[in-house]
Amino acid sequence: MAQIIDGRAVARQLDEETALGVAQIIARTGRAPGLAVVLVGNDPASEVYVAHKIKACARVGIESHEHRLPAETSQDALLTLIARLNADPTVHGILVQVPLPEHIDAGAVLGAIDPGKDVDGFHPVNVGRLSTGTGGLVPCTPLGVMKLLDTVIDDLTGMNAVVIGKSNIVGKPIAMLLLEREATVTVTHIETRGLPDIARQADIIIAAAGAPRLVKGFWVKEGAVLIDVGITRVASESGGKDRLVGDIAFDEVQHARAVTPVPGGVGPMTIACLLSNTVKAASIATA
Ligand code: GUN
Repeated sequence: MAQIIDGRAVARQLDEETALGVAQIIARTGRAPGLAVVLVGNDPASEVYVAHKIKACARVGIESHEHRLPAETSQDALLTLIARLNADPTVHGILVQVPLPEHIDAGAVLGAIDPGKDVDGFHPVNVGRLSTGTGGLVPCTPLGVMKLLDTVIDDLTGMNAVVIGKSNIVGKPIAMLLLEREATVTVTHIETRGLPDIARQADIIIAAAGAPRLVKGFWVKEGAVLIDVGITRVASESGGKDRLVGDIAFDEVQHARAVTPVPGGVGPMTIACLLSNTVKAASIATA
């Protein structure tokens, strides 16, 4: 039977370390780290994510500063807010929830955040630092994936890792982090030819294509480690509650060495890493 990697337990442990980091910053500076969370419009999924993030801040003692702006907010007004948050010494992390309304250029907004406060790791400076292995703030989901891998594999050197998905937020940064750890990395995506055969070579599969149950049992080598980043809401056939479905056919991979469940795998790690990035940014800013 494959080991089921308990993301909730790993996230709880990380939150304990983060809370200790918060206490140290308060002892040193007299003030808790601050995270500004900016939500423009009322996309229902974004509302839920932002509510979770604010609640999580309270859990570890981070001060959250919530900025809710109407959907018709102009790009200039948003950039003015970012400039104010960049200059605010009580704000150590800035998170602008995406997607933004269509009339706003997300690249311009994310690029206006001070890279030292960019706790999402989306700023081109942080992307560049990640790709050159020179520090910086790392995107939360990729960081969480690496921390989950660390619970089952000590040394990734020379291992074959196949990443399925090439997004800027998940697939590409995960590939960079795996390379940094000396894994041999193949980045694939939904259009890749012969994907089952490529996946079958993998010691590690990171499934991040957003395609429910894409990775079938026969795609998976005996003893492989599987991390499922996919999370798709699927209406229940019986008319009951919607289900969350990952990119891996979970019930077909008993021959894997370890697998993350959906929900309860990567999801809890994303928020835990946001909190730890905020403490990291605050530690550097207040050193
Ligand atoms: N929207 C969906 N995921 C994320 C995330 O990790 N950060 C931000 N800022 N917006 C998101």
